Amino acid sequence: MPRSSILRLLRDSNAYMHCADNLAFMRPLKNESMQLVVTSPPYNIGKSYEARSSLDSYVNTQAQVISECVRLLHPRGSLCWQVGNHVFKGEIVPLDIILYPIFREHGLKLRNRIVWHFEHGLHCSKRLSGRYETIMWFTKSDDYIFNLDAIRVPSKYPGKKYFKGPKAGQLSCNPLGKNPGDVWIIPNVKNNHVEKTIHPCQFPVELVERLVLALTEPGACVLDPYMGVGSSVVAAAKHGRIGYGSDVVQDYVDVAWERVHALKAGTLQTRPMNKPVYDPKKPYGGHKEQKRMEKALVLPFARPARRS
Ligand SMILES: C[S@@+](CC[C@H](N)C(=O)[O-])C[C@H]1O[C@@H](n2cnc3c(N)ncnc32)[C@H](O)[C@@H]1O
Repeated sequence: MPRSSILRLLRDSNAYMHCADNLAFMRPLKNESMQLVVTSPPYNIGKSYEARSSLDSYVNTQAQVISECVRLLHPRGSLCWQVGNHVFKGEIVPLDIILYPIFREHGLKLRNRIVWHFEHGLHCSKRLSGRYETIMWFTKSDDYIFNLDAIRVPSKYPGKKYFKGPKAGQLSCNPLGKNPGDVWIIPNVKNNHVEKTIHPCQFPVELVERLVLALTEPGACVLDPYMGVGSSVVAAAKHGRIGYGSDVVQDYVDVAWERVHALKAGTLQTRPMNKPVYDPKKPYGGHKEQKRMEKALVLPFARPARRS
């Protein structure tokens, strides 16, 4: 279908997306209506979709957007701000450090600073190549939604039992798997990734899926104010939540709608959650092993394997 004939809908049953500045998009939305706000803002490093500005003016703009997101955040909700470094004349400025005080001023509570590690990116010659970014996970209150069971990963020794004491013979680990921890190893979306679109730096859907599953309930609303090609909206819709998002680039919004429609039609390919990172030293890069394990254990987190 030619891009021009794609319906520029503003809403669907599980997605509300618009080509607009995020402040304009958010203003009409209801107070405390979002269980999760998850986003990756521009880093002010001169990507194709951003104009470089001074760090002060960047931080001021972020403060306005964050304030609107806090207004929309449900009392039991979470706000996840995914950032890397702003780079100026070879000096790095970690954006989580710079932006953290803004969230604190709003009374948000930091629950985790998740390190997202990936293996591909620019090769630096005057400093070490950057291979992680962070997700600051804040909650609005101490009474927050956190469904750990929904995001457990396979334990290292799933059948391990206590060998003495009152629990001797019982499983010593949770049969549903273990807590995934705060270092997430998830491939970033480069050219050979199954989710790659026209966007230069999109979220891997699996990264947002974890947040959606852990931090929201079915039917809840999820907002991405810098949605790009709608990866957060896709992750939300994939799990029966309602995704909201805006971007200032119409082409990205068009792709976002294509992805949401493909998801509905069952034709959208996404990299499965918890698929191990390709390891060239293992047969089939280690992916065959995963399939065998999933079949043998029939664990609740085992997803049907797809190509990526
Ligand atoms: C880092 S990218 C986010 C990519 C997104 N996570 C994805 O998976 O596609 C940041 C996005 O913010 C958009 N953007 C920049 N300023 C904006 C604004 N004021 N309102 C809405 N979107 C904006 C850019 O066009 C860009 O697509």
